[in-house]
Amino acid sequence: MSTGEQDLEIYLEFAIKLAQQCGQMILDASKARYSTDSMVYGKSGNPADLVTETDRLVEELIKSSLKERFPEHGFIGEEHTAAGHKHEFKDEPTWIVDPIDGTTNFVHGFPFVAVSIGLTVKKEPVVGVVFNPFLNQLFTARKGHGAFLNLTTRLPLSYPNPPLRLPSNISQCLVLTEYGSDRSSVTIGKKVNSVHSLLSKPGNVTWSEKKAGFVRGIRSMGSAALNICCVAQGSIDLYYEVGCWEWDVTAALVILNEAGGYTTSSQGPDEGPVNIFGRKYLAIRSGSPCDGDENTRQSQLRLIREMWGVIEEIDCPR
Ligand code: IPD
Ligand code: CA
Ligand code: CA
Ligand code: CA
Repeated sequence: MSTGEQDLEIYLEFAIKLAQQCGQMILDASKARYSTDSMVYGKSGNPADLVTETDRLVEELIKSSLKERFPEHGFIGEEHTAAGHKHEFKDEPTWIVDPIDGTTNFVHGFPFVAVSIGLTVKKEPVVGVVFNPFLNQLFTARKGHGAFLNLTTRLPLSYPNPPLRLPSNISQCLVLTEYGSDRSSVTIGKKVNSVHSLLSKPGNVTWSEKKAGFVRGIRSMGSAALNICCVAQGSIDLYYEVGCWEWDVTAALVILNEAGGYTTSSQGPDEGPVNIFGRKYLAIRSGSPCDGDENTRQSQLRLIREMWGVIEEIDCPR
């Protein structure tokens, strides 16, 4: 079965409608608050790893709608994946779905919550829809056709105007990262240390060096998919997270790519495209149009190498 341009357009349109339908379900559930009432703790009884009835209902709707419309396609969804299970990833079109990215935000009413629907063909992410129903932000992309906010505004955004050029080093970068929900003492201890270290250099350096930190600022919004969309829209320079999953990132990576951004799972450009199953991701925004294409790619790679070097230096867990 070969998948053409027209197919991708059909898949994208279908995914957009489905995401909007799910967005309405998420809004209704949040108003009724039934999801909070029937909230259950995550698979290991970890109070930081939540799953609600709404997560399950939304994923069920997505899965059954896709199966009905595209019965021959594969499906990977967070709530249909048992802990430790490894999916067989095939060349056939495969939907990779997170019904609610930002469940903790959803439960607390913090409005960074998204439904994320991605599609891979021949193992490459080619269609992405990330919809935040609380802020009514719909991020969409298909390979080769650009990325959009609310269907008409092209990404990256032209705000601020003129757009900031890509920084020449990470000390000028605004960075998004997350602690995630893993609360094993080793992981959380290391993550706390690594985030603090980004703001105030560790080790045997002078006070003024320490004060400068490695990066300009750190933000955490609690949704990997929306974090990557922030990089795609250009309002964040870098996002890195170690420990999230393919359903957190697949859709958003298409959006970022189409917005001129770039993602790696490793230090260099030589390792090829990002491994969506790699569980570590470093995403960088595009440059401003005046940076020029080749210059932009070189600056992106320089910043990526610098940032991975720092992540390794501060011993971020993986
Ligand atoms: C989580 C969010 C969070 C990230 C975690 C994810 P969930 O997804 O994206 O920002 O730090 O790694 O697991 O559990 O809310 O779908
Ligand atoms: Ca989860
Ligand atoms: Ca998620
Ligand atoms: Ca989720």
